Amino acid sequence: MDFPKDFFWGGATAANQVEGAWNEDGKGDSVCDHMTGGAVDKHRYFTNKIQSDAYYPSHEGIDFYHRYKEDIALFAEMGFRMFRISINWTRIFPNGDDENPNQKGLDFYKSVFEECRKYDIEPLVTISHYELPYNLMEKYDGWTNRKCIDFYIRYCNTLFTEYKNLVKYWLTFNEINCLTMSVGDILSGGFKCEDGPAQVMGLPDTKEQLRKRYQALHHQFIASAKAVKLGHEINSEFRIGCMIAGGCVYPYNCNPDDVLLAQKDMRMNYFCGDVQVRGEYPYFTKRMFDEFGISIAIEEGDIEILKNGKVDFYSLSYYMSTCRTVDEKALKTTGNVIMGVKNPYLKASDWGWQIDPKGLRYLLNELYGRYQIPIMVVENGLGAIDKVEVDGSIHDSYRIDYLRGHIKQMKEAINDGVDLIGFTPWGCIDLVSISTGEMKKRYGFIYVDKDNAGNGTLNRSRKDSFYWYKKVIASNGQNLT
Ligand code: BG6
Repeated sequence: MDFPKDFFWGGATAANQVEGAWNEDGKGDSVCDHMTGGAVDKHRYFTNKIQSDAYYPSHEGIDFYHRYKEDIALFAEMGFRMFRISINWTRIFPNGDDENPNQKGLDFYKSVFEECRKYDIEPLVTISHYELPYNLMEKYDGWTNRKCIDFYIRYCNTLFTEYKNLVKYWLTFNEINCLTMSVGDILSGGFKCEDGPAQVMGLPDTKEQLRKRYQALHHQFIASAKAVKLGHEINSEFRIGCMIAGGCVYPYNCNPDDVLLAQKDMRMNYFCGDVQVRGEYPYFTKRMFDEFGISIAIEEGDIEILKNGKVDFYSLSYYMSTCRTVDEKALKTTGNVIMGVKNPYLKASDWGWQIDPKGLRYLLNELYGRYQIPIMVVENGLGAIDKVEVDGSIHDSYRIDYLRGHIKQMKEAINDGVDLIGFTPWGCIDLVSISTGEMKKRYGFIYVDKDNAGNGTLNRSRKDSFYWYKKVIASNGQNLT
């Protein structure tokens, strides 16, 4: 079997990592606009006040805000059928709790979607991708506060109504399961915090912190379920999905303790999907909360809301896999959200992320077996250092190898019977890294001339992978050479 003929080949970005224009045309500042580049201790710093002597990569991004026509034309040249983009909440509601939307923000995305439609590119829109209005953090302690549900639904209502004839595919929250980990405290949860290094401050796993995370996550589940219901009422054609950071976890060896540890971690993959796809908390929740020593507030009616807001499809990011073992001496490895033990059978990227295409096939089968609804891989790719040759060409064969390996395994998964409907590799155009704030960690088919310090012309150029991916799309995944 081949890729289905209407398979969505495309690419993915997020507003905070590409748009720039952080305070133009009425936009407010989001939590991400308070994250510096990764200059200090390799960590991005979070600052409550925007400091004039610090560098904040999202403020300029790659200037997609002013160059989107050129960028979308390049995506069209590659033959994209889908473009995953997120909306900057603060472009629409600058403070998050405003009564009325910002017209200029609405006009911008309308124009972006129209540009996509011009080339028959289907937009896939993430409603919230690490772009929480800073005001909601400062005033409400982010998603710990139930009021965020209403603010989010007002925002969704505006988007769904405004773009009901331009957008069909939506994702409610990017990598919603990040909120179960400390890395999600700032970017996903928007919890109030002191200035400090963003990757490590992800506040310690105290009982209170765990309670806050799961309470905030419950609020996002309710918000997502309400959004699904509302979206279907506004346009019954809408297809609204969840988005989970896909961690594939293996036992390090056949020691039953390792197997149980790996299973426990895989269940964390399923925790959010179960709520969003099946409309209820999974069977292992009670024991998990008991072991954490926490309980969360679930209001009357919440259980019904979850049941009535099941998603139409499942989507995931997938970059790497890890192992689990009870052996404390085993070598550790880490990605941006995923941590575990090194797998001796796998190679790793320049940033140490373990490359495992077969893990994708394994995970897709596990997910489809569990949920039986269409799946999209909406992020995947290799963050690598690219060299620009004297003639301007960029020979990124390592990126091609990475993607080829994963596409082959997606094909295997389709042959296994998985209903896979789309693939939008991450950072189809070079963009700011979320974990390190760097530019030199590049994922794109399109090179953007900008360095870690923010210098460069911002000019776009085609890498070897650009021409390769174009052939892949034109042959519907047949020609991977
Ligand atoms: C995903 C995020 O976790 O990984 C993206 O959804 C992010 O926003 C991507 O950019 C790659 O991670 P990084 O840290 O290399 O930018």
